[in-house]
Amino acid sequence: MALVIETKNITKSYPTGAGDLPVLHGVDFSLAEGEFTAIMGPSGSGKSTFMNILGCLDRPTSGVYRLLGEEVESLSPDQLANRRLHYIGFVFQGFNLLPRADLIENVALPLLYARLPVAERRKRALASLEQVGLGPWAKHRPSQVSGGQQQRAAIARALVCQPSLILADEPTGNLDTQTSNEIMALFSHLNDEGITLVLVTHEPDVASYAKRLTRFRDGLLVEDGPVLDRRRP
Ligand SMILES: Nc1ncnc2c1ncn2[C@@H]1O[C@H](COP(=O)(O)OP(=O)(O)O)[C@@H](O)[C@H]1O
Ligand SMILES: [Mg+2]
Repeated sequence: MALVIETKNITKSYPTGAGDLPVLHGVDFSLAEGEFTAIMGPSGSGKSTFMNILGCLDRPTSGVYRLLGEEVESLSPDQLANRRLHYIGFVFQGFNLLPRADLIENVALPLLYARLPVAERRKRALASLEQVGLGPWAKHRPSQVSGGQQQRAAIARALVCQPSLILADEPTGNLDTQTSNEIMALFSHLNDEGITLVLVTHEPDVASYAKRLTRFRDGLLVEDGPVLDRRRP
């Protein structure tokens, strides 16, 4: 299987008033097409920092990151924006939907950057909402649907450009247990359909839906292996 992600000796330091704060100390990580890993680890261990680098939202201080075989450091800003748009879908803990836009407009938003005509944008956004079971709620605003439905809409938005990879940072952090399980069932289903997934979570129950567990501690990858009793929806 082709590698979607490959990092070699990635380090990251944040500049602060008191000097550089080292956060990642040399992370080697690979993810092949079709994999589904859960990143766990204590708060402050560098999970979000690593996810932001994987998503090309931030750059490593040193080391090499290859996304679908391309060295990210060598890409121009335009190429980087293009890769972010077409290769990667993002899902966050706080859904990050626009409150004044309905779900179809929210989901269609990334397609604005893909420069598609409005009718085509709406058609694709609706197909994406249908893919996550939200077709009937397309005209509702985020505040008119439940938290779980808002996160589904965010997942539909992540899917709308048909990315190879979804990066989800604590996507169930604001949801109750049953809703978390529904969201994880959806991710499992998307993975069965061929999408590669990296998900950060604090919760072992949530992580048990993944095929692989990657554990961070103090900015280092300290464990990486298969999930033995994987939970299936
Ligand atoms: N933009 C930033 N500037 C300075 N320090 C940061 C920044 N982002 C994160 N940190 C620090 O880096 C460390 C790791 O943070 P983070 O990657 O968010 O960890 P996690 O997601 O595992 O909780 C923490 O000590 C945090 O305070
Ligand atoms: Mg975090």
